[in-house]
Amino acid sequence: MSAEGQAEPWGPPSSFAKRVLVTGGAGFIASHMIVSLVEDYPNYMIINLDKLDYCASLKNLETISNKQNYKFIQGDICDSHFVKLLFETEKIDIVLHFAAQTHVVLLMKPEWRNLFTSAQMKYMEAVSIRNLMNLHPNNLQILMHHLKQPLSVLYSLTGNDIRTLTLEKNPFASVFKFPVVITRSSNVYGPHQYPEKVIPKFISLLQHNRKCCIHGSGLQTRNFLYATDVVEAFLTVLKKGKPGEIYNIGTNFEMSVLQLAKELIQLIKETSSESEMENWVDYVNDRPTNDMRYPMKSEKIHGLGWRPKVPWKEGIKKTIEWYRENFHNWKNAEKALEPFPVQPSFV
Ligand SMILES: NC(=O)c1ccc[n+]([C@@H]2O[C@H](COP(=O)([O-])OP(=O)(O)OC[C@H]3O[C@@H](n4cnc5c(N)ncnc54)[C@H](O)[C@@H]3O)[C@@H](O)[C@H]2O)c1
Repeated sequence: MSAEGQAEPWGPPSSFAKRVLVTGGAGFIASHMIVSLVEDYPNYMIINLDKLDYCASLKNLETISNKQNYKFIQGDICDSHFVKLLFETEKIDIVLHFAAQTHVVLLMKPEWRNLFTSAQMKYMEAVSIRNLMNLHPNNLQILMHHLKQPLSVLYSLTGNDIRTLTLEKNPFASVFKFPVVITRSSNVYGPHQYPEKVIPKFISLLQHNRKCCIHGSGLQTRNFLYATDVVEAFLTVLKKGKPGEIYNIGTNFEMSVLQLAKELIQLIKETSSESEMENWVDYVNDRPTNDMRYPMKSEKIHGLGWRPKVPWKEGIKKTIEWYRENFHNWKNAEKALEPFPVQPSFV
């Protein structure tokens, strides 16, 4: 941006050391990743591809939207022609893939499960074509062989097969011989998250003088990582990660949903009286699927030098402050505050 606040013209493609495609960049985690990359890597061109679903907000990117090393493109990763064209025209070197349906209840719908699977596959097909054209000519034969056969096999896999496959090994590397790194992280919290997820939802409910709606007993526990810590983890994997590897990005910090609600009530309603706190809690039916806990081991990424740094007290204060000012960044934010914004009856 110039001193007058005018956007500067794009630099020619050759003026950037790398061209990075970030999918789902108007969503929660990827928007933090983009802000960090655009600010800290001015010699990298960062291209944000997002279809702008209900949970997306371009306000998440306001601080960098006029920078010359940033570009937003609205589009759907399920549209393979469009994705192919994008790879051809934008000369992508690195892909950071975040776009997904992240609402757990929506994800359980069969049509979403299929869409998720086929979108991932179409996307990888396009990535592979780009790879065939420009990146690794020596791997052409191997990739041609793998692209002909396993795609159809992978298309027919169910969600469970995919889960088993990706829990055990990185299928894109083992099947496609494609240099993909997979990461899996604990629950992430911080600014920019659509308030359908538990932390921004409870914060926003309390800030609107409404009760925290607890699904089931509230005894389910979650591990929470602050957004900038997870961005640091992705940067670490980008710099030091091994192609074909899977890295868990976890934290030992764990609390139950009920504990979380009480902590937020203390901070926002400034009370620690048990009876007053109970007044801000509403127990509703549990979701059809609700894991009790999912801690993970993260030795592999610790070996690369990454550890979470932001203490819970600091991260949660920043998050509460952010939602005070920014709740209306999404057109439909009010809807997210219902106990079940998406009715779970179909699962
Ligand atoms: N939030 C967490 O706690 C958490 C934890 C572990 C892993 N993850 C994973 O990280 C990734 C990002 O999660 P998030 O919480 O930031 O998600 P989010 O729901 O905030 O954002 C998803 C973004 O993807 C976009 N999108 C969805 N479908 C698309 C499509 N077909 N084409 C183009 N764009 C599309 C949406 O518009 C949205 O901007 C997901 O893969 C998620 O499973 C998230």
